[in-house]
Amino acid sequence: MKEKLQKIREEALLAIATEGADLEQIRIHYLGKKGELTAVLRGMGALTAEERPVVGQIANEVRADIEKALGEKVKEEKEKLLQKKLEEEKIDVTFPAKASRMGHLHPLTQIQRNIEDIFIGMGFSIVEGPEVEYDYYNFQALNIPENHPARDTQDTFYITDNILLRSQTSPVQVRTMEKQKPPIRIISPGRVYRSDAVDSTHSPLFHQIEGLVVDKGITMGDLKGMLETFAKTLFGEDARLRFRPHHFPFTEPSAEVDVSCFVCGGKGCRVCKNEGWIEILGAGMVHPFVLENCGIDPNVYSGFAFGLGVERIAMKQYGIDDMRLLYENDVRFLDQF
Ligand code: PHE
Repeated sequence: MKEKLQKIREEALLAIATEGADLEQIRIHYLGKKGELTAVLRGMGALTAEERPVVGQIANEVRADIEKALGEKVKEEKEKLLQKKLEEEKIDVTFPAKASRMGHLHPLTQIQRNIEDIFIGMGFSIVEGPEVEYDYYNFQALNIPENHPARDTQDTFYITDNILLRSQTSPVQVRTMEKQKPPIRIISPGRVYRSDAVDSTHSPLFHQIEGLVVDKGITMGDLKGMLETFAKTLFGEDARLRFRPHHFPFTEPSAEVDVSCFVCGGKGCRVCKNEGWIEILGAGMVHPFVLENCGIDPNVYSGFAFGLGVERIAMKQYGIDDMRLLYENDVRFLDQF
């Protein structure tokens, strides 16, 4: 029996030392419940009382030796694996990195931010309004009742009979005046929608910036002065403005405002289609009905409002002749700004 135990030890140690040995398999084979060592121990009943402790001790030693060898081998394998990983996975921190492409703001966003900065500098604050709007705010409160012809030029997308995608940022005037009493000095940038077919100057979605000032004693002169300051800041000191009489139901008097062409300075060129002027906004004195609709007494307060077309300004400023380019998100185009 002693020889048998010695043999088991030799065989097991050899197996463990063999390169690529399956250590778990070896453990089961020698030390497991049905393993060789266990089999020997089971046979110990046949031994004499003197032999039993001697053989028992040897058996324990053999078990301890095999366990120790297994333990060491497992540790060794783990270390080898770690070493291998460290070698394979090491990174060269001095290796030049792939250059990451830096993007930049969309030209429309750049123009919008420039315009916002100018108005913030004049003491305006920025407010936002919903793009999904009630007919009441988009039309009725702005003095455009149902069936009014002014609705034709601002046909939009209807969600229900009285909920629509706003066709202008002017509803924010009403929302602001309902919540805030004068003095009011706000601009409101955002998307607007009209059911227009897409071409080089039309899109069913475009951007406006609304402006509203309401206080005691506000006049058309304030509107002109403020817009002139704005135009000179955005387009340069030489920029001049031209006010053409116009009609908006929610302002009276109303005007369309042109800026002297910032390419030719007014002489006439391709950009201004030889007119020397470029239309950039609609404006006027807030109609007394609109003030009344918002609970502001038109006998005490007056105000002006204006609505700028962001695409128009971006296109003229950057010399873009097709509006569709602004929405296609082609980086070859956007990279240029
Ligand atoms: N909302 C008008 C438009 O979209 C522009 C405008 C705004 C006119 C404010 C006057 C005052 O055409």
